[in-house]
Parts: sequence; structure tokens; C-alpha cells
Amino acid sequence: MLLVTGAAGFIGYHVARRLLEAGATVTGIDSLDSYYDPALKRGRLAELAKFERFRFVAADIAAEGALEAALPAAEVEAIVHLAAQAGVRYSLEAPFAYERANVAGHLSVLEYARRAPKLRHLVYASSSSVYGDRTDGPFREDDRCDAPESLYAATKRACELMSETYARLYDIPQTGLRFFTVYGPWGRPDMAYFSFTAKILRGETLTLFGDGLLARDFTYIDDVAAAVARIVEVPPDGRPRHAIYNIGNSHPSTVRDLVAAIERATGVAARTQNAPPQPGDVTATFADHSRASARFGFAPATPLDVGIARFVAWYRDWAR
Ligand SMILES: NC(=O)c1ccc[n+]([C@@H]2O[C@H](COP(=O)([O-])OP(=O)(O)OC[C@H]3O[C@@H](n4cnc5c(N)ncnc54)[C@H](O)[C@@H]3O)[C@@H](O)[C@H]2O)c1
Repeated sequence: MLLVTGAAGFIGYHVARRLLEAGATVTGIDSLDSYYDPALKRGRLAELAKFERFRFVAADIAAEGALEAALPAAEVEAIVHLAAQAGVRYSLEAPFAYERANVAGHLSVLEYARRAPKLRHLVYASSSSVYGDRTDGPFREDDRCDAPESLYAATKRACELMSETYARLYDIPQTGLRFFTVYGPWGRPDMAYFSFTAKILRGETLTLFGDGLLARDFTYIDDVAAAVARIVEVPPDGRPRHAIYNIGNSHPSTVRDLVAAIERATGVAARTQNAPPQPGDVTATFADHSRASARFGFAPATPLDVGIARFVAWYRDWAR
């Protein structure tokens, strides 16, 4: 029995689907919060509901007893913990949402895992944002991560540290994944590739923060979901049983490159205006993924143009 937290979310949906396609029995839990349109979350769940081996429970993972009620700890064999309050900029507006979902939520998952006698592996989402504002990529897992630029990043780093402690105290096998700007169909409306596509198709002007020169290591969702499904099967060796991996493309593109890819995919020229970077934004993200490649054969294969074309095709259909 597998538990996927955040199963109605972007990455959670794709990972749950991948696991179901491989024959797993999956319980999904998600609070369906309204950080972005819950209709999109319900749309993803409707896709997952096509699998008989999928069960869904709407609940807040930070609420006492919610995880146990969704799937008794005695039964769970693996957990993929993806529920979180995501988004860098919103963490300046609503900091306590991050404390609740990311800090209290992660601790709830750890406490649940501690009482799970059959648990083989807890895989959880961290983020490239833990690396802070750097221009000296590629970033390696052993680099110092003690200068987060946003509360979001600070909570993600806190999750890693709590996991390290629980691996040491209770020998819970865990893998943390630092995702780098994951994008694709069924994606997140708060992310630039999604909102830019919507605006370009409506003929609206795009605001390019940091003059469009901020760079991100855009990583296509299918590459990520395939990696997570594989990683669930490979708990860490050694003691403490906790390892962290970069899950990123190792090929950063600027926001201007992103806009050009959307223009090619839509056939529409973008109208843009430049603006200074926003507080919390980092200049660049750039993964060294050699550790995940060596251990899991992680090899992200999807170029930005291909991934954006697939996203735009999905978006046109969804937005009809
Ligand atoms: N998408 C990316 O580029 C990216 C990059 C780095 C890290 N991450 C991390 O990956 C994970 C998944 O991100 P995503 O892009 O799918 O985001 P998402 O917002 O689409 O998914 C998160 C899901 O968690 C749910 N959720 C939030 N608080 C909850 C709570 N207290 N209880 C139950 N459910 C709750 C939300 O309703 C949402 O459906 C998150 O941990 C995020 O921080 C994502």
C-alpha cells in the first residue's frame, strides 16, 4: 500500500498516475486548498479515479490523526510526500500557510512514518530553492544550504533537517528530492510557463521580472515522475538512512528563452515589459544531477521546446 500526499497537486497527480500504471495500490490525500483553482485539482483527481486501485481522502495532513484515518500506519509500505504550500512569492504574503503545510505537515508525516512497521521508504519533496541566490552552478547536494532567500526555501530546508533527525532517531528510510522548476501538462497556474501561456493566448502583456534574465533549470514532469517512481523502489543504504538528490535538468534556460519557446508552441508573438526582480527570487537554478544519475539512472531527456509544446497542447484543451 502506497500513500501519496498532495495527490491532487501537479507532481502528486503525475507520480500517483505513474505508480498506478505500474500496478500499485495508491491512497491519495490532499486538502484541495485554494492557493490556485481547485477545479484543476479536481480535474487531476478525476483522471486518477479511472484507476480502481486509487482511493482519495480529502484532508489536511497537518491535522491530528488525518494520515492515520486516510491509511492506517500499520498498512503503509511506502510514502511519497508531495503535499506542501508551494510558491516562493506567496510565502511573503502568507507565511503561516508555509508553517502549517510544510513544517507541521512534514512533521505529521514523520510521526506517521515512525508508527508504520512495514514502511520501506519515505520519499519527500524538497526544492532547488534551498540553494539560495547563487550564480556559481551547477549546485551539488553537499553544498551549503544555510542562506534561503524566501520563507518557502527555509521551510523546505527545515523539512530536510527534520528528516535527517528522524532517520537518526528512528531509522526511518528516507529520500529527499530537490526538484528544479518542474513543468508540463496539468501544471501549476502560479508558475511562469503556465501564466505566460495563458496571457500570450489572450493577447495580454507579460511582465518579465529581472528583465527576463533570471535562469531556471526547467525539468519536464514525465522525467520527474519516472524518476520518483523508480526512487520509491530504492531506499538509501548506510546509516542514517537518509539521502538527498537533485532532480533537475542540468540545463538552465532564461525566462526569455521560456517566452520564445511558448511563442514557437503557440504561434503567437508575446508582448513583454521588463521589471526588477521580486523579493525572494533567485538569479539562477542549475542542478548537478550526477548523484541521481549514478544511483537511479536519472537522465532527464525532454528539451524545453518539446515539453512546452506538450504543455501548450494540454492547456489549449483544458482552457476551452
Ligand atoms: N513544481 C515545482 O517546480 C516544484 C519545485 C520544487 C519543489 N516542489 C515541491 O514539490 C511538491 C509538489 O509541488 P507541486 O508543484 O505539485 O505543487 P501543488 O501545489 O500543485 O501540489 C501540492 C498539493 O498539496 C496540497 N496541500 C497543501 N497543503 C496541504 C495540507 N496541509 N494537507 C494536504 N494537502 C495539502 C495542495 O492542495 C496541492 O494539491 C511540493 O512539496 C513542492 O514544494 C515543486
